Amino acid sequence: MNIISGNKEIISGCEEDIQSIAKIYLEAFPESVDFFFRRDAGDRILQIIALGFGILLDAGCKFFVAKDSPGNLCGYSIVVLDDAELHKAVIRHGHALGAAKALFTGKIAIRFTEMLKLGANGMVMAASSFVLPKRTSFGRLMSIAVHKGARGQGLGRDLLRRALQCLADEGVHVVRLEVRPENTAAYELYRTEGFSEIGVTRDLQGRWVAMEKLLFKGRG
Ligand SMILES: CC(C)(COP(=O)(O)OP(=O)(O)OC[C@H]1O[C@@H](n2cnc3c(N)ncnc32)[C@H](O)[C@@H]1OP(=O)(O)O)[C@@H](O)C(=O)NCCC(=O)NCCS
Repeated sequence: MNIISGNKEIISGCEEDIQSIAKIYLEAFPESVDFFFRRDAGDRILQIIALGFGILLDAGCKFFVAKDSPGNLCGYSIVVLDDAELHKAVIRHGHALGAAKALFTGKIAIRFTEMLKLGANGMVMAASSFVLPKRTSFGRLMSIAVHKGARGQGLGRDLLRRALQCLADEGVHVVRLEVRPENTAAYELYRTEGFSEIGVTRDLQGRWVAMEKLLFKGRG
């Protein structure tokens, strides 16, 4: 199902969109990029980020992209149907191995200190998530961003709704996400789409507000 948002079309994303998604991510999350990576010339960081998105796509995450009429990508949203299954899928399909190979053979030029920081960050975040209410399964909003020039026109809301519709169509009962407490635009978007706070988690950069929305009443 395609959605028209203003003069943009929201469609399913594919492999071809990964580089453009990575570019939007770089622009949308400069603090994160600066925190984890040493900024330097060339497209080194873009390649690393694109590799991460490629793994998510291969592991079964659902990608949605907004494109204008010439076909430029203006925003994206990414969800996973079952958060716990995602980690297993990455290992089962050998994506983690492939990524490690690309990193160690120098195909993707990530520095050892950057890898350590990313690994430590993941561990802190996983450990801090134990305080959240337990659920047998839930979907997750992995990432959402709109190009700076296209913000404030309803595209973020439409991208979020398209992603949530996909989860509902697939029978997912609950969806979770994390947002930085100071990210007013995203927090307000989630709150007005029916998400409620369920706790606070942390990573090396600081606090996250964890939020949840029930798509259907029932198990989970
Ligand atoms: C969050 C983001 C995706 C919103 O996209 P957008 O297209 O600008 O959002 P929309 O125009 O659809 O606005 C939807 C709602 O979000 C909230 N919102 C958006 N911008 C806001 C702002 N600057 N201040 C407060 N609330 C804001 C409002 O509730 C708005 O609804 P309204 O227009 O009826 O008031 C966009 O700001 C973005 O890409 N930010 C950087 C990446 C990011 O932070 N992603 C989320 C990580 S958790």
